[in-house]
Amino acid sequence: MSLLRLYKRFRWYDWVFFAFICGLTVLQVFCSMKNVDYMQGLTEAIVTLDQDAIWWNGGMMVAVAAGQFGCQVVIAILASSMTASLATRLREEVYERVSAYGLSEIDRFSTASLITRTSNDIENVQMSTLLVFRMLFSAPVTAIWAICKIQATSMELTWVAIVAVLIIVLALSAMMFFVLPKFKISQKIIDRLNQVTREGISGVRVVRAYNAEQYQNDKFEKANDDLMNLNLYTSRIMQLMNPLMTIVLDGASLGIYAVGAHLMKSLAIDYATIVAFSSLCIQIIFAFMMLLMLFVMMPRAMVCARRVDEVLRLKPSIVDPEEEVLPDPAIQGEIVFDHVSFAYEGGAHPVIADVNFAAKQGQTIAFIGETGSGKTSLVNLVARLYDVTEGAVLVDGVNVKDMKQATLRKKIGFVPQKGNLFAGTVRENIGFGLDEMDEDTMRKAAETACASEFIEKMPEGYESHIAAGGTNVSGGQRQRLCIARACAIDPEIFVFDDSFSALDFKTDKAVRENLAKAYPNATKLIVAQRVGTIMDADLILVLSEGKVVGQGTHRELLATCETYRDIALSQLSKEELGL
Ligand code: GTP
Ligand code: MG
Repeated sequence: MSLLRLYKRFRWYDWVFFAFICGLTVLQVFCSMKNVDYMQGLTEAIVTLDQDAIWWNGGMMVAVAAGQFGCQVVIAILASSMTASLATRLREEVYERVSAYGLSEIDRFSTASLITRTSNDIENVQMSTLLVFRMLFSAPVTAIWAICKIQATSMELTWVAIVAVLIIVLALSAMMFFVLPKFKISQKIIDRLNQVTREGISGVRVVRAYNAEQYQNDKFEKANDDLMNLNLYTSRIMQLMNPLMTIVLDGASLGIYAVGAHLMKSLAIDYATIVAFSSLCIQIIFAFMMLLMLFVMMPRAMVCARRVDEVLRLKPSIVDPEEEVLPDPAIQGEIVFDHVSFAYEGGAHPVIADVNFAAKQGQTIAFIGETGSGKTSLVNLVARLYDVTEGAVLVDGVNVKDMKQATLRKKIGFVPQKGNLFAGTVRENIGFGLDEMDEDTMRKAAETACASEFIEKMPEGYESHIAAGGTNVSGGQRQRLCIARACAIDPEIFVFDDSFSALDFKTDKAVRENLAKAYPNATKLIVAQRVGTIMDADLILVLSEGKVVGQGTHRELLATCETYRDIALSQLSKEELGL
């Protein structure tokens, strides 16, 4: 079923191609049947030493063989182009769908599995579809045509063919019995292998630092061995096909000639008929074998198709509203959390419980709290990376669910806790997601983020290369580039999720002052661990286990919130806090 659903992606002209393939298949089978007729004629001519007939039949054999060859070439070209474009379309669609997924859907599949599904699974679907196009139609047509032809010849010989086909069917069914269950689990093992490989490569620094190479290698080897054993098992069994085919084909020929010789003695049949019969018999056996091979390949293709289809059918939970509510242009940079609660899918407890606050344009709102208190989860809700479980998040007076995601995200300069850069130049990273960025915007962004000094010291300045993930710059440099990237879109709202943690105190202060000067009208949400970073905020929310345990300015909280006072006193002296 899933496979058929995927086939819906074929365009109308693909079906025209398919009709051509069917037509050519019939033509090709016709040629091969004609070939047998001429072969019979040729044999007769050789026996009777009729020169003219030898030339005529021989010539016709070459001609129909050429016709058959031509048909096969065109079928191959049409079928490959159909399946290759189907695969391209599927990859495109899967990629688009995955890009539209919220983080919770990605978590559900796991990244490694999504990669296998986009690459290996689609390729499997492509290969088996190709096989289907070339075999599913041609094998039965050949078999039926050939069976009709041999029936007329002799019952004794037909029995030989029936026995040979039965042996093939039985042997392949036994084979299927052993390999099918293995094929079904192979994709899961490939997922696992991908996951271990990804983890090992992206975490290579930690692996080295902890001397965990052996541990990681063992994990990898386990997955690799599992895959090898499975492949060995299936390919050993599948490889039995070849010798089996040879035995059955040779056995059938032998049987036909033995029975034929017997029949010839009683003058019931001539030699040429036996030659023709043997050739038809081989074609029938081949056709059955191809059909059964299809049955062996299809279950795996179906597993792959189901996995691809699952991705395509899972609707992203975060979707644009049918009718967008446009915010009042007069309102900018306003954020309201109205009794917001949030729980991760499958998570037992809400990680955000009943949070209320309001931010006006240009204000700075800060969030502080122990690790795991829900700060990241909370700011993710502003950019609608997850949807709230209860309550509502309003940006510029509109519920974020009623706004197009693009409209919402254009307003937000988001600096995630785990700053990620992309392979490319510094310029491309700062202008990430922008159609174009002029020189001034880029320089202003870099200067605000205190990134210009180190960028200019790099060998090629703004054209210097950044490695994927930003692994060739320091943690603090990466954070500053991420801040510059947020500045470059000149947002109404900044979200800094612990974005100053890797900066020294001086730079931390300078960046915040620059931000206040360069983007005075932008509302800033700052998550921080350091009290010093957020002391001047207009509103500070103290979080503990997802609940707001204190809300107010630095002064107010020092007086009223014990948790805040504890955090503050653990970092600064009483004198510094003015107590
Ligand atoms: P720090 O960044 O360490 O200061 O913590 P935080 O305050 O930003 O906490 P965060 O919002 O990341 O996490 C809050 C709670 O949610 C923690 O108990 C996490 O275990 C949990 N959590 C975070 N991310 C996920 C997730 O993707 N899935 C699930 N199920 N739980 C998560
Ligand atoms: Mg966090």
